[in-house]
Amino acid sequence: MTRRRRVYEGKAKVLFEGPEPGTLVQYFKDDATAFNGEKKSTVTGKGVLNNRISEHLMSRLGEIGIQNHFIRRLNMREQLIKEVEIIPVEVIIRNIAAGSICSRLGITEGTALPRAIIEYCFKSDDLNDPLVSEEHITAFGWATPQELDEIMNLSLRVNDFLSGLFTGIGIRLVDFKLEFGRYYDGDEVQIILADEISPDNCRLWDMATNEKLDKDRFRRDLGGVEDAYQEVARRLGILPEGGPGDLKGPSSIQ
Ligand code: C5P
Repeated sequence: MTRRRRVYEGKAKVLFEGPEPGTLVQYFKDDATAFNGEKKSTVTGKGVLNNRISEHLMSRLGEIGIQNHFIRRLNMREQLIKEVEIIPVEVIIRNIAAGSICSRLGITEGTALPRAIIEYCFKSDDLNDPLVSEEHITAFGWATPQELDEIMNLSLRVNDFLSGLFTGIGIRLVDFKLEFGRYYDGDEVQIILADEISPDNCRLWDMATNEKLDKDRFRRDLGGVEDAYQEVARRLGILPEGGPGDLKGPSSIQ
């Protein structure tokens, strides 16, 4: 088995050098972390499900013209992606109040927001991903004003599309986090969507029961984390071949 060069290892994913220049392989781990790594565990099958869910959502977004890093799925845990220069800003889009906005602003969880609200956090584990303003982003040169405009427009389009897609399967898209990168294609530079879109970085509530179908089950010790992720995959019509039995594959990383 050939060993590939590991380019980056995050909490839930590993990036390896890809087969062609300008590509990477994104490997989805079963590791679950919360509160900036303070809480850690393994959720069997999570990586397989997130690989599938992110493939599905990125592909649908690509079809409506939202450029993103996804090229194709390689196997149960890996996908081929375009290499981008990640913009060090996490973009959070909220439709319903939940999580940190509730504690920060004293809003009751579940309150519908007057309109979609975008927040930005500086990507830094050491600093705990602090909330920042557009001023910080442009003044410190993390993104130009034009890039930030593009990021905001793309984020709202992603929100509109995904909100509709999830409504169609009885799920409310409460909030989610996106990351963007600069993709260099010859002389052209383009801002494209990167990272992943999965129950690890979205809040997804069942529309009938308000049951949480996302990482809050892990963060808040609600149990049934795998079942919730599987339910999202099932409703999207993308459970792996052979059903949940296929989720117990080896999780080692070469
Ligand atoms: O914690 P908070 O309420 O700010 O999270 C908002 C949304 O962004 C949630 O869907 C959460 O899963 C996601 N998020 C993330 N990675 C972070 C911070 C938040 O995926 N580092």
